[in-house]
Amino acid sequence: MRKEDNEYLTRVGPGTAMGNLLRRFWMPILLELEVPGPNEAPIRVRVLGENFLVWRDAQGDLGLFEEHCMHRRVSLSLARCEGDGLRCLFHGWKFDVRGNVLDMPNIRDPNLAQKARAPVYPARVGGGLLWVYLGPADKQPDFPDYPFMRLPADHSYAFRQTWNVNFVQGLESNLDSSHIGILHNNSAFFGERKERATPEMRDVVVWDDDRPTILAKDHPGGFFATAIRNVELNNEPRRYARVHNFVMPFGTFVPFPILAQHVPIDDENTMSFGIVYDRKPVDAEWCRGIFELPPYLAENLAPRVQRYLGTADNNWCQDRSVMDRSFSGLLNPIAEDMAVFAAMGPITDRSKEAPGGSDIAVSRMRSMMIDAARALERGEEPVQMTSRESATMGSGEGLVSDDDLWPELLSR
Ligand code: FES
Ligand SMILES: [Fe+2]
Repeated sequence: MRKEDNEYLTRVGPGTAMGNLLRRFWMPILLELEVPGPNEAPIRVRVLGENFLVWRDAQGDLGLFEEHCMHRRVSLSLARCEGDGLRCLFHGWKFDVRGNVLDMPNIRDPNLAQKARAPVYPARVGGGLLWVYLGPADKQPDFPDYPFMRLPADHSYAFRQTWNVNFVQGLESNLDSSHIGILHNNSAFFGERKERATPEMRDVVVWDDDRPTILAKDHPGGFFATAIRNVELNNEPRRYARVHNFVMPFGTFVPFPILAQHVPIDDENTMSFGIVYDRKPVDAEWCRGIFELPPYLAENLAPRVQRYLGTADNNWCQDRSVMDRSFSGLLNPIAEDMAVFAAMGPITDRSKEAPGGSDIAVSRMRSMMIDAARALERGEEPVQMTSRESATMGSGEGLVSDDDLWPELLSR
């Protein structure tokens, strides 16, 4: 990859081509349980290099405000919550969640308040997350209708982690199946996974084959990618496929199933959402055991919200003293993932990589994103999934009688 393409792919602040592309999609910015109640204090959120406030009026209607008052730029996190709107402390301008200016007490011209519009954006709750749309109002796409959004609340488990790396690095790790059998070769996660497997799958050991065949197939708004491995089941050689799914612009469905959404805070920080879901109630304790980072790796910011603490200074929390029994010295599959993509540095230099055949899905995602951002610069809107299409998204895994039949796993 050329150095300039790497810059193009990873820079997401206001006015950048990639930032403009990301702003065309609904994106999660908080867990639903973090959203303030009616007329409670607004919450500050940084996303795509800009600061916003989430607030709910006394009626319960949600709004996403730019953080700084449109008048003279004081942070509205100081504002008074007055039920029908937020009142800026400095000169008392008051704004409702739809951007109407309700009052301008220091202005003589009564028409000005009627004409003015405060910068606010649509915000909606769905599937345990708060979603916002930051793009042009006339280009707003369908609200997603991912499978977990229609399930009862106890059928999914959502969590959020803040990472000190560019969003593309986490995304790439989700699309890179060949690392599973190596980086995670003895982490507890896969022991658990096997325990949970259906009787048919119980004897499948996915990490026996570290050279999977990677195949991909586009869909409206992304692509499915599979890693197919040789496995042994009852002493018979079989083919076992794991199907991942890239959903523009930063989502991946991974077999579990789980949807990961890697939302840029800015160029060098990411908030990553995970939603584990199932047709039956999910065991929240079990999810916590798998996905919650232990205290030495993370700061707890709120229930189900953590900030990863691995840095070069603490060698990403690796413990070399346990490496006789742990391949990675990290003792936790999530810690393993985070350590490898944080240890690339905040924005990895992709012009210096030596990619191999195992990186097909990663390369496809990169070119899909770059092509879509370039097209948008030329005035061509990105392909947007309809609600109906988003309802068919997911991942899959299982045995296949023929490698070419892997897409059938998605309809199970
Ligand atoms: S800065 Fe907010 S009302 Fe003047
Ligand atoms: Fe991983």
